[in-house]
Amino acid sequence: MKNLALPFFAASAIQNVGFAAPAEPQESLHERLENGLGRTPALGYNNWNNGGCTHATADAALKVADLMISLGLKDAGYQYLNIDDCWASKSRDSSGNLVADPAKWPQGIKPVTDKIHGMGLKFGLYGDAGTMTCAGYPGSQGHEAQDAKKLASWGVDYWKHDACYLPCATGGTPQTCWDGRSSTKAYYATMRDALAGAGRPILFSMCQWGRDSVWTWGKDYGNSWRMSGDIANSWSSLANIAANAADIAQYAAPGGFNDLDMLQVGNGGLNDNEERAHVGLWFIAKSPILIGTDLSKLKQSTLSLLKNKALIAINQDSLGKAATYFRPAGKPAPVKGTLYPYWAGPLKDGVVVGLVAVDGAATLSINFADVPGLGSGSWKWTEVFTDATGTGTSVSAALGAHDMRVYKITKA
Ligand code: GAL
Repeated sequence: MKNLALPFFAASAIQNVGFAAPAEPQESLHERLENGLGRTPALGYNNWNNGGCTHATADAALKVADLMISLGLKDAGYQYLNIDDCWASKSRDSSGNLVADPAKWPQGIKPVTDKIHGMGLKFGLYGDAGTMTCAGYPGSQGHEAQDAKKLASWGVDYWKHDACYLPCATGGTPQTCWDGRSSTKAYYATMRDALAGAGRPILFSMCQWGRDSVWTWGKDYGNSWRMSGDIANSWSSLANIAANAADIAQYAAPGGFNDLDMLQVGNGGLNDNEERAHVGLWFIAKSPILIGTDLSKLKQSTLSLLKNKALIAINQDSLGKAATYFRPAGKPAPVKGTLYPYWAGPLKDGVVVGLVAVDGAATLSINFADVPGLGSGSWKWTEVFTDATGTGTSVSAALGAHDMRVYKITKA
């Protein structure tokens, strides 16, 4: 969807602080979302970053399912296979139901989810809080309960709810509204409650690009919330998203996580160092991890990154706390919205530290005494990408431009 790329990517440049807090309507429901799902970030696949609309078909979904198994991704923990925009027919049926496009899903959705479930995977679909999805397919506004029941009857396990074509204070229902007076909250509450009443556990993935400072209220509504405009296939895009995620790390917790967007590794816009940093940052920020590339063309180095056991264990740590910036003694302070080299966050049995060569090749050194959660004395560390290990009071990494190292640190 060429026409979609521009507004969304432009939106990410707005940063996550661009929206004035709207006056909130009083909603009828105030329950905290406790649907038992998403206690750790979702791990899976989404077809959007690999060709947009073109792969929203039964054939493509089943091919991905086969590859998730044959490449060992399922065994590594990736369980959701999500199909994004463009899977539906342009019109609802005469009873108002969403309909799968018969050219793309000749047998409908259910036989596909049955197969996918039979393979030990879960299935996700995409829709929208407004009148239409971003690509112009039916949105759920006014049909929430009916749609949630339909999804449940198809065996859907994950629902991504986008925010195109919602009413906008600047007038009408444009494809994308960035006006701070136009709150999205009530629409997400309606779908949350519809899913809760659908009779099947369905993970609720909110996608409104960080509007309304969603991280401050998202945990009461969904299992994850996108915190930025769409990721582009470039270092600057992922650096911008990661920098903004550092600012809102405190909102991640079991049941609800900041969603930094689907991965771009494998799509050709990042070199090996940048792929390592992309994966490292997303995993330690406790983002849902949705692979977004053609699995049949995956390089071995990218596949190894995605299957890195130690990194997956950090992302799936039961504490569910996201890493953020820390400032080592003598280093310049972080600048809001700019990627910073030094990251740390708590784990149930230790601390994770990330070092990123944000500006160019560099040797980055830290004393453990400066790391939140550690302190003076000797610590044991393991680096997840190189398997290097050591014990001491500090660690140091010689990195190429945009490369990253991730350390798990425990008591010596
Ligand atoms: C955007 C969303 C993308 C993708 C696209 C589909 O709003 O952020 O992740 O779902 O819509 O049209």
